Amino acid sequence: MARAIAHPNIALIKYWGKADPLINLPAVPSISLTLSELETSTSVTIDPQLNQDVFILNGKETINPKVELMMNAVRKIAKKEVFASIKSSNNFPTSAGYASSASGMAAIALASNQAYELGLDHDGLARLARLGSGSATRSIDGGLVSWPTGTDVSSFGRAILPPEEVPLAVFSVTTTAANKKISSTDAMQIVSSTSPYYPTWVQNSTDDYFKALELIKKSKWEDLLALAQNNALKMHAVNLAARPEIIYWQPESLAIMQQVQKIQTEKQIPVYFSLDAGPNVKLLTLQKWVKEVATEFATWDLQLSLPGKGAQIIDQN
Ligand code: PMV
Repeated sequence: MARAIAHPNIALIKYWGKADPLINLPAVPSISLTLSELETSTSVTIDPQLNQDVFILNGKETINPKVELMMNAVRKIAKKEVFASIKSSNNFPTSAGYASSASGMAAIALASNQAYELGLDHDGLARLARLGSGSATRSIDGGLVSWPTGTDVSSFGRAILPPEEVPLAVFSVTTTAANKKISSTDAMQIVSSTSPYYPTWVQNSTDDYFKALELIKKSKWEDLLALAQNNALKMHAVNLAARPEIIYWQPESLAIMQQVQKIQTEKQIPVYFSLDAGPNVKLLTLQKWVKEVATEFATWDLQLSLPGKGAQIIDQN
């Protein structure tokens, strides 16, 4: 048995589009920040009595094809045909744009590596996590993490800057805990095959990735957050233009985005927004502005996260 914890991450430059859907190779490189407060805790217990894996998410037995895909990969590496009981719980709402699959799959990769004695190193773990959910490859590490495009061997999350050197803060604003309607995998498939803006997105977001790396190197944090906001809007623009059209926003999402814009222009507080494949908004700011941002958005349900650590094993026997 082994237990691991992992944190979700918010992409500042988004992963949106697959070069190879079977093994989650991205069409675009991405950059994320691992979030401290949100956490998934997962145990993997090998049980020779089982004739299939059992996955329990937040106390409820659940069928999850991503988990199965990963566990099959684990057994292939281990060369062992034994099944496991996997128990996972999140301290935040599942499937509401909080990237619970990122922390979930990263925690399963770590716990399985230990329980099945796979002996994987960092890169092997990041590649295994990627198979479950692309963005999970970026939750193996803490702080700022890049995920370049490439092959099965070369495309995985890599630490850029450790959490203690990243002066950023993120507020998760809960607008609705409702399940998202279109999974990111389905949306990426629809978008890449129907959105007229998709080729432009791939080109432009790749440019954003290299710009962001440069801004991080120069510690130009506010410029980085402004770029992140623009990158998120471009991701949603490709969705809006797809057939069928994909709209992840709820009225509250737009209200928050407009409130952010108003504060940017009228109060000069460095606050920016980002949204993933769901209605919830993340407010991006600098740690030294956390108090002001919290005051401005006091009417919303806010959860503050600082740069978080990478996934780690917390228990084994
Ligand atoms: O890892 P997935 O398949 O859940 O896709 C995540 C996609 C976004 O969260 C919208 C963007 C990202 O880079 O995390």
